[in-house]
Amino acid sequence: MTRVLLCGGAGYIGSHTAVELLENGYDIVVVDDLSNSSKESLERVKKITGKDFPFYQADVCHKSALDRIFEENQIDAVIHFAGKKAVGESVQIPLEYYRINLNATLALCESMIQHGVMNIIFSSSATVYSADNKVPFTEKSHLGCSNPYGWTKLMNEQILQDIAKATPGFSVVLLRYFNPVGAHPSGLIGEDPQGIPNNLMPFIAQVAVGKRDHINVFGNDYDTPDGTGVRDYLHVVDLASGHVAALNYVMNHEGTEIFNLGTGKGVSVLDMIKSYSKACGRILTYVIAPRRAGDLATVYADATKAKEVLGWTATKTLDDMCADSWNWQSHNPNGYH
Ligand code: NAD
Ligand code: WQD
Repeated sequence: MTRVLLCGGAGYIGSHTAVELLENGYDIVVVDDLSNSSKESLERVKKITGKDFPFYQADVCHKSALDRIFEENQIDAVIHFAGKKAVGESVQIPLEYYRINLNATLALCESMIQHGVMNIIFSSSATVYSADNKVPFTEKSHLGCSNPYGWTKLMNEQILQDIAKATPGFSVVLLRYFNPVGAHPSGLIGEDPQGIPNNLMPFIAQVAVGKRDHINVFGNDYDTPDGTGVRDYLHVVDLASGHVAALNYVMNHEGTEIFNLGTGKGVSVLDMIKSYSKACGRILTYVIAPRRAGDLATVYADATKAKEVLGWTATKTLDDMCADSWNWQSHNPNGYH
């Protein structure tokens, strides 16, 4: 039985990936410091799957904590979700972002190699692509970042590629996620942001549930069909199944491979508000606000490589994403609390 360590596995994407792995016959072990999540998400994963697994509450930056996990469990591969992820916050406290996001990867790789664990999947992001690219972005598009969070992703990609080059048998898959949204169809797990949500879908969800009054649409004068920003929103369950496909790949190859995970389709802010209004059964109020600094007009993936090499494609629609988000939000208005 293949056993996978999920670092940051109590979080939004980690918990959904845990479900897909357990349902596909993998064993899992989870480590998370719960700095941006709740242990309740893992109880819900157990409820959905009917399966149990070990959980360690620990900081992945602490190698000794990882050493203990690798000593107590026979691990075949690691999926590394752990880290801080708020773009705006990373501009305010860059040192913390560099310290946590880089130290986590360094400690993890040192401990993995020491214990002979040679397969790792890393959560990267479309944010590593520079603004001067034409859409859709392929894995060969130019790289470059506009904020410390993005730089931590690019630096981690470099670190992992260098380790793979220097370490025979080491295998790395870098997954560049576009915009993960939605929730598990059971309504038991979903995104649980602390404070005011930074991202569009969780913000809309809080307006829909009555926690906030209206949506601010950041600019309607972009060069896009309706003037609002266009993104590649990807259902989190599709994203989770992308990790299962990547796991199969990483365990059977050496070196580094990079994949975009997206739908390949662009959706505007107004498209999203319309679809969510349909899902929750009422017209959601929005106001046009100024553009948000650093935003691009249009971002979407060329996900051909993931299809050809991993055999993975996203299957869920925008309406599925909104319906499943609403199912989660309406049944858990305060998230896991
Ligand atoms: P999340 O915050 O819900 O999950 C990250 C988890 O890591 C949390 O449970 C948190 O408690 C844990 N964690 C943070 N620092 C840790 C540490 N030092 N030690 C142990 N655990 C730690 O975020 P998510 O949305 O599930 O994202 C997962 C990964 O995917 C992140 O690396 C993120 O940067 C990346 N990513 C996310 C998105 C997105 O839009 N959600 C897009 C692209 C990439
Ligand atoms: C989407 C669109 C906004 C909020 C971010 C990170 C990226 C990745 C995914 C981690 C844009 C508009 C938003 C709101 C709005 N994360 N918007 N009102 O910026 O594409 O990507 O999350 O790696 O790195 O930058 O996602 O959801 O914030 O914005 O009008 O209240 O919605 O302007 O066009 P983004 P988002």
